[in-house]
Amino acid sequence: EKGGYDHFMMKEIHEQPKAIRDTLSGRVKDGVVDLSQEIGLTKEQIKDIEKIHFVACGTAYHAGLVGKTVLEELARIPVECDVASEYRYRNPIITDKTLVVVVSQSGETADTLAALREAKKQGARVIAITNVVGSSVAREADDVIITWAGPEIAVASTKAYTSQLIAIYLLGLYLAQVRGPKTAEQLSEIVNHLMALSTHAEDVLKQEKQIAQFARSMAKNEHLFFLGRGLDYAVALEGSLKLKEISYIHSEAYAAGELKHGTLALIEEGIPVVALATQHAVYDKMVSNIQEVKARGAHVLGLATEGDSELRKTVDEVIHIPKTIDLLTPVLTVIPLQLFAYYACVERGYDVDKPRNLAKSVTVE
Ligand code: F6R
Repeated sequence: EKGGYDHFMMKEIHEQPKAIRDTLSGRVKDGVVDLSQEIGLTKEQIKDIEKIHFVACGTAYHAGLVGKTVLEELARIPVECDVASEYRYRNPIITDKTLVVVVSQSGETADTLAALREAKKQGARVIAITNVVGSSVAREADDVIITWAGPEIAVASTKAYTSQLIAIYLLGLYLAQVRGPKTAEQLSEIVNHLMALSTHAEDVLKQEKQIAQFARSMAKNEHLFFLGRGLDYAVALEGSLKLKEISYIHSEAYAAGELKHGTLALIEEGIPVVALATQHAVYDKMVSNIQEVKARGAHVLGLATEGDSELRKTVDEVIHIPKTIDLLTPVLTVIPLQLFAYYACVERGYDVDKPRNLAKSVTVE
């Protein structure tokens, strides 16, 4: 049942190339995204959208954080992203021109479902991105984009997250095709990169041994930091959650520019730092943040883009992510972080698939 792997989580990490392919399948033709089978919005309704709210919990919320940047970039629509348990109680401003996108692997998370109901009551159009056909969230939303990740058994979410990202890219491209401002050529170029991601994911998985080694050497530490800027920051948050969840190592993810505003005080000799440096627009800023933690004795694992021979000079170890466009890197950068959490957990001798205090699906508040 575990397909030859020791744990479901490892099986599911390795199923990601397929989950990515399956989630794209049938939704792209000749460089154009077609979601008309699943999303009933007319062109007029798409043009009328004034703002988008992503609402979700945990890992799905982290997918929404990527979604904020992606949809703002592709469709130039203002996007907010909220944790469902905050959204439902904070009296958000919702109109009939608000598109609410709820993201939920199980489709049964109590807070996410309650947020969906509240948004609908206030007149929003609700799209659900979920992995379970016929789930509560799928049944109650106006439109549904299914992530075809297949059943996810391990409590720690992996392939559901990457599939949620794919669904978000598809949605962003679909809206952008109607809204602009990008040209059809620019969008189909992005679609081509999207179609190449599953092969790139396979290449990232080939670096498993090196990641395992780093994780094992770090597993005795009780504190760890993840740093990134832009989309790398959103992925840092997910990497940090994964590590806490299964290895019980305390970790924090920081937007690297915030370091100086307090966190740097915690960096001391030998502290492990995982630094993501795949976003070209902020690359130099990121490198100088890494130098700041190195100068205080941090032991740094860097994530760089293939062809980057510079980062190696600043960090202790480097993992290379295959070349794609910056917007799509989260699908790839999260994989080493999932493997890192897995191997840290195994090294510490904890139950990978069933971490303490947690349930796969949180159906009560
Ligand atoms: C983390 C994890 C949780 C879930 C969260 C939402 O690895 O699995 O944070 O992502 O409980 O669950 P869904 O997506 O089912 O709504």
